[in-house]
Amino acid sequence: MLKEKLQQVREEAAEELRRAETSEDIEALRILFLGKKGRITSLLSEMGKLPPEERPVIGQAANEVRNFVEAMIKEKKSEIGRRELELRLKKEKLDITLPGKPVMIGRQHPLHLVLDEIEDAFISMGFTIENGPEVEFDKYNFEKLNIPADHPARDTQDTFYFTPDILLRTQTSSVQVRVMEKQAPPIRILSPGRVFRIDEIDATHSPVFHQIEGLVIDEGITMSHLKGALETMAKKLFGENVKTRIRPDYFPFTEPSAEICVSCFRCGGEGCRFCKGEGWIEIGGAGMVNPKVLEGCGIDSVKYSGFAFGMGLERLVMLRYKIDDIRMFFENDIRFLNNF
Ligand code: PHE
Repeated sequence: MLKEKLQQVREEAAEELRRAETSEDIEALRILFLGKKGRITSLLSEMGKLPPEERPVIGQAANEVRNFVEAMIKEKKSEIGRRELELRLKKEKLDITLPGKPVMIGRQHPLHLVLDEIEDAFISMGFTIENGPEVEFDKYNFEKLNIPADHPARDTQDTFYFTPDILLRTQTSSVQVRVMEKQAPPIRILSPGRVFRIDEIDATHSPVFHQIEGLVIDEGITMSHLKGALETMAKKLFGENVKTRIRPDYFPFTEPSAEICVSCFRCGGEGCRFCKGEGWIEIGGAGMVNPKVLEGCGIDSVKYSGFAFGMGLERLVMLRYKIDDIRMFFENDIRFLNNF
């Protein structure tokens, strides 16, 4: 009886396994026949009811069925595994002969390109680069630069205020004050960065633009050091033939003050439409740091002197590449940017 049942289970298992198609099917059948409550296991538990002399014979037959089913499951499993793998490989096939997607190569923004060159020029003269916050205290942007609240110079830098004390910096000279406060001379720094002034946008004006300011403080610094540094930079930027000129100007934080011009690189100084017939193009302001500013930052103005200069980056880049509209820098038109 039990022997026949075993035979029947064996045939059923063989039949069902033959029909199984997926690894899930196989697993279900394994549980059905070999699991803890499976068909073969429950038959084996009936062995206890048999007379002792029959037990070894039936036991052997039961083991044989179990081995058979186990072997068949193993075989089926590897067969299905192979098939499933083949299927997946076929489905996931990559055609490496297909053309690739074009990759857009990024470029440096023209402002950064020129800024890098200017930084290199000054780094080679021993300057370090210093950065400061764009949201600044009035103290650093004006007060300590000898521009008190009622000073007319404030009118020339129309300012975005958050509170009476906090503003968007109008000049990177603010960084110089911060450095002078925490560092004893000698000081030799370049501070490039964004500055903000209330202004209508047009071809030559923008409420946000970039300044590059330099500051040198040491014993015995004179105006000729200033001129030498500016000349070195101008030659690196505009070529060996460029000339620099400084003429009197006024800034509250420098005394004496000067405007910086370079010879027109279009006409070489003869006068053309580009330089409006002047032969010279203004690129920034400069001067000897006002002793009042030095003292305000705790620097002995008898022992030390220094020079400072400031230039507009956009203007330099526009001159260099003959760009006639400042808005080009901020619109990020790929057709424009791809030229650099
Ligand atoms: N910060 C001045 C400006 O924005 C430029 C400047 C800097 C002039 C340093 C002299 C010395 O107009």
